[in-house]
Amino acid sequence: MFDLIIRQASLPDGHQQMSVAIKDGRIVEIKPDNALAQAVAGKEIDAKGQLLSPAFVDAHFHLDSALRYGQPRINDSGTLLEGIALWGELKPTLTQDAIVQTATRYCQWAVANGLLAIRSHVDVSDPRLLAVEALLQVKESVKPYLDLQLVAFPQDGVLRSRGAMDNLKRALDMGVDVVGGIPHFERTMSDGAQSVRLLCELAAQRGLMVDMHCDESDDPLSRHVESLAFETQRLGLNGRVTGSHLTSMHSMDNYYVSKLIPLMVEADLHVIANPLINITLQGRHDTYPKRRGMTRVPELMQAGLTVAFGHDCVMDPWYSLGSGDMLEVAHMGLHVAQMTSQDGMRRCFEAVTTNAARILNLEDYGLAPGCHADLVLLQASDPVEAIRLRATRLAVIRRGRIVAQTPAQTAKLSWGPNEVAIDWRL
Ligand code: FE2
Repeated sequence: MFDLIIRQASLPDGHQQMSVAIKDGRIVEIKPDNALAQAVAGKEIDAKGQLLSPAFVDAHFHLDSALRYGQPRINDSGTLLEGIALWGELKPTLTQDAIVQTATRYCQWAVANGLLAIRSHVDVSDPRLLAVEALLQVKESVKPYLDLQLVAFPQDGVLRSRGAMDNLKRALDMGVDVVGGIPHFERTMSDGAQSVRLLCELAAQRGLMVDMHCDESDDPLSRHVESLAFETQRLGLNGRVTGSHLTSMHSMDNYYVSKLIPLMVEADLHVIANPLINITLQGRHDTYPKRRGMTRVPELMQAGLTVAFGHDCVMDPWYSLGSGDMLEVAHMGLHVAQMTSQDGMRRCFEAVTTNAARILNLEDYGLAPGCHADLVLLQASDPVEAIRLRATRLAVIRRGRIVAQTPAQTAKLSWGPNEVAIDWRL
């Protein structure tokens, strides 16, 4: 007797007419429908051929600043630097309760969208560490629904801002999971390199992962990705370090990149691009042609690196839109990277599911016996259709329990004498 069986499912790997049996919060069996025809469960879902996927994972987000669009005013220039300045004005006005409230609200949006794991950076520049207290509280309270992993992020620069390194260490002492950084915001290129060294050493001492905002600029001469790959290897942190954004790589000289990518491979450096935000913030100093700014996603994937897409921002000082929909993120990533082949589009789906899970080092994530039953049933037959339609999340399952449902989206069209049902599928 199982707790839940989902029958007639299509899987991301192309298998069809599959049944997934769940017990005690975990997947127990995945077999063709006829092999589990006699199986009995407390609850059944007929997927009707729709796509059953492991839940979405957002590898890069900022929960402390989300859902504060227009506070205290709107980012006029649209640049990263005005966003940082705006956030600097907003921070002192926030209370712990206010952050808990908006972060929890966003987590609810996420769960309804089948997004069940988020790596969120938390700004540790404020010595009161209110945001850290708040997000640690949220991490606990949302646990039944969503895995929240926190990165200690020194938004104002760990060397540039007085006391920032101490604040960051205190945040780690309080239970923040990952060491963050922002080398391109330090005063000089050498300060940036030093910040990378110090933060990687700290992670090595404490046995933690690293995820740095790294070279989030259009500067073709920025060299912090190189420093991050070097320190990763020097300290034996291979496979535990992530470079977020890496937008400078978009503008770098091709010869230099042909040397840099092999260094990243040697370090097994993970990469997170944030397509919605990169296309919005980068290239703001260009006239025409305007650079897209996103890092070299297909080339990095081709080299064998794990590349994920993050949402980064939703309605905050940097970005006015968003709803916690990782299919929207994949949709934008696919366009900006021109990954329009069948294989390319499937890789974009992996960038918001399996690749992101690998970067977060999530335990027992996936669609295999023994994995947590953290799943999303989409109104689409395969990953490409899911991205094209930003498909409705028919059911969201967390540890074997249905936690969110949305009715299938169908329009009723009066067309001449007939009524026609439209669901935008062939
Ligand atoms: Fe970010």
